[in-house]
Amino acid sequence: MTNDPIPTPSIEDLQEDPMAEENDHIFERRELLRPQHVPDKSRIVGRDQEIELVEELLKPAAVGEPPENGFLFGKTGTGKSLVAKHVTGRARGIAQMKDVSLAAAYVDCDQYNTETRAARQIVLAVRDSIDPDRNIPESGVGASRYYDELWGDDGLLTDVDAFVAILDEIDKLGEDSTEVLSKLSRSEEAGKTGCYIGVLAISNKTDYTDAPDERVASSFQDDPMVFPPYDADQISEILERRADAFKEGALSDDVIPLAAALAARDHGDARRALDILRTAGKLAKKTGDKQVTTDHVNQADEYSDINRSIKLIQSGTPHARYALFALAYLTKTKLDDSFRTTEIFDVYKQIAPAVGSDPVTHQRILELMKKWSLPEITENYHTGGGKSEGSYREHRLLHDSEIVMNAAISSEERKEVIDQLNKQRI
Ligand SMILES: Nc1ncnc2c1ncn2[C@@H]1O[C@H](COP(=O)(O)OP(=O)(O)O)[C@@H](O)[C@H]1O
Ligand SMILES: [Mg+2]
Repeated sequence: MTNDPIPTPSIEDLQEDPMAEENDHIFERRELLRPQHVPDKSRIVGRDQEIELVEELLKPAAVGEPPENGFLFGKTGTGKSLVAKHVTGRARGIAQMKDVSLAAAYVDCDQYNTETRAARQIVLAVRDSIDPDRNIPESGVGASRYYDELWGDDGLLTDVDAFVAILDEIDKLGEDSTEVLSKLSRSEEAGKTGCYIGVLAISNKTDYTDAPDERVASSFQDDPMVFPPYDADQISEILERRADAFKEGALSDDVIPLAAALAARDHGDARRALDILRTAGKLAKKTGDKQVTTDHVNQADEYSDINRSIKLIQSGTPHARYALFALAYLTKTKLDDSFRTTEIFDVYKQIAPAVGSDPVTHQRILELMKKWSLPEITENYHTGGGKSEGSYREHRLLHDSEIVMNAAISSEERKEVIDQLNKQRI
């Protein structure tokens, strides 16, 4: 193409290009450490029970019978997304083997955070596996149009035996989550499709079970699956089983135990462990060191986003930290993820006395909360509540609520504060 804005040089010209030099003495298969990588079964540690439970839900789908719906809960990095994708992938493979038509869709609701967006993502995923040439409108239509594409006349699921939808971080859909879940779980009952539908709904929020209303809850299993955090030994094992991401001998002995210990500090978070190991490898590579050492691991930990944020929060002024704690508490316990200053202030008013301090004013809390957005601990924005309500500011936490709560109030004071808040049922 003559008008290509990105010209590609000829192969001859590229012979001497330094970018083409393969001088990676650290990584052999770096892709094994990417957060999106779904490892095969031999690399998965300590999740036999959870895998079995999800297998039970999906097994019928693999033979063309109705699957069950299930909720998967647990803190970040406890393997929820991994287990859901792993088992769904195997179910699809088995279905293929048995000549059953099984469709699957994965939706990250953090990214597709409204009913329409999530429904569109589901349709696009099904389209790609069932009928890649089919034209699906990408914008300008509502959720109902996307459901039609699935189970309307001539919908994508018409000749499909079973369909599994993974809705990851479903709490990010807020109130829309009930809509999506009820439509998926009731489309068969309503006779809209002959295709059996199963849903795996995943959330980091422990209170999410209370959320779905009756019409949704009844179609889900009574007991949600809870994924416990890993202990340091399990994290070590997870890293060991990815060690072939590195060249032979590129990891010095104590690297994995240290990375595991650091990642298990707040709660055993496998994502953080892999992140530290990958960053340590990158640092060794960049500096031209022959091996990844504990120095690189410590440095990687310093660099890690989470650690930087923890330090920043710990160095905040007391009332700024209490207000941030209030936001983290709301984020953890309520379904929303954005909160008005007033809501934060109401919780803050309970916290200050619990730590022996007089509360500052609403206006002051607004100022303090606004300051957390600059270092990207939170984001905040104006939103209109309609003419009668006037406009107000909402705040949203950009980090894990547990980690923020732990950083914002010291461990000695935390229990007192939580007891007080639980008493008030805020
Ligand atoms: N049991 C495990 N064995 C091996 N790797 C794991 C395990 N649990 C999590 N991981 C890895 O850690 C990262 C985070 O896991 P993920 O499933 O995304 O956690 P969650 O969805 O619970 O936040 C992923 O890269 C995943 O491959
Ligand atoms: Mg996840």
